Amino acid sequence: MDDRIITTSTLGEDFASEYSLRPQKISEYIGQDKVKERLKIFIKAASMRNEALDHVLLYGPPGLGKTTLANIIAKEMKGSLKITSGPAIERAGDLAAILTTLKDNDVLFIDEIHRLNRTVEEILYPAMEDYALDIVLGKGASAKSIRLDLSKFTLIGATTRVGMLTSPLRDRFGVLCSMEYYDDEQLKEIIVRSAGILGCKIDTKGALEIAKRSRGTPRVANRLLKRVRDYSEVMGNESINCETAKQALELLEVDGEGFDRIDNKILEAIVDNFNGGPVGIETLSYFIGEELDTIQDVYEPYLLQRGFIIRTPRGRVASDKAYAHLKRTKPEEKNDQLGLFDNNDNTKEGV
Ligand SMILES: Nc1ncnc2c1ncn2[C@@H]1O[C@H](COP(=O)(O)OP(=O)(O)OP(=O)(O)O)[C@@H](O)[C@H]1O
Ligand SMILES: [Mg+2]
Repeated sequence: MDDRIITTSTLGEDFASEYSLRPQKISEYIGQDKVKERLKIFIKAASMRNEALDHVLLYGPPGLGKTTLANIIAKEMKGSLKITSGPAIERAGDLAAILTTLKDNDVLFIDEIHRLNRTVEEILYPAMEDYALDIVLGKGASAKSIRLDLSKFTLIGATTRVGMLTSPLRDRFGVLCSMEYYDDEQLKEIIVRSAGILGCKIDTKGALEIAKRSRGTPRVANRLLKRVRDYSEVMGNESINCETAKQALELLEVDGEGFDRIDNKILEAIVDNFNGGPVGIETLSYFIGEELDTIQDVYEPYLLQRGFIIRTPRGRVASDKAYAHLKRTKPEEKNDQLGLFDNNDNTKEGV
């Protein structure tokens, strides 16, 4: 079990507060402007035509607000929300049973949709396209297929791995939304809002300090806020300011970039043990003893997005930022090797 403080997956302690901290309306949902804009238009159009909203695929790293958004969409469509996940639906019959209970405008949310098995997935194709369920009765030559009509529902699929979706499934989603990491200002707003709900005082600088170390992820921001609040209370402080936030986060071993021990271990391995890279992701995960999936879903996307590592066809390479972060000097020959710079060769100019 991953119980790191900055993990982007849900920890036991998050369950109780995630519910109360979860925005209920689109106006309370901070950031993701592009996604919100598109959804607003599609929801409005569907409501005007009295039709169900087209199926929506939300993809992006964990903790960025996919489940929250699904809740909001269901509310906006005035339907009820049924939540399930790819690995939870084992047989085609399980999915058929869920589909037949849906009413018009209901939203079926399938988390980790890339983990649906093939036979289950095939039930979804006609359900998504024609709101129909094909059922085969009997076996062999006497088998008969009958078609059942389903209500006009909306499927919302969520995935952290859009590349693992089969193309027939991906093509059946009308609205594809890529969830982005949040910037510091947006996270600051989320922290201030959450602090209000939790009833703790925080000033702008304190909120910003937590925001900067939240890996662009609201779930992490909320968790850090709660830990900083605990620290601040124990210290007898009235409200959270920049200094308390810094001290508490230091104690929690979350560094200035929001990296923890494992992020730093990844960077150190590439820089110190693999000579700056390129190194394959499998080798790296083996070397530092972390699961490949965790590295691919949680660590790597953020390190890539912040430009600490670079993905090349031959593997991952540490960037200048990584060297600076670890306070290492980048060997001269690395620059040439990568062809990123050509300090010594002016003849190449203009080629
Ligand atoms: N845009 C937002 N504004 C305010 N709070 C948010 C926002 N997005 C997410 N949150 C907060 O972050 C928490 C985690 O969000 P959520 O559970 O929706 O993430 P997720 O993308 O579904 O994660 P996972 O991939 O692990 O299922 C929520 O409980 C909510 O409090
Ligand atoms: Mg979720």
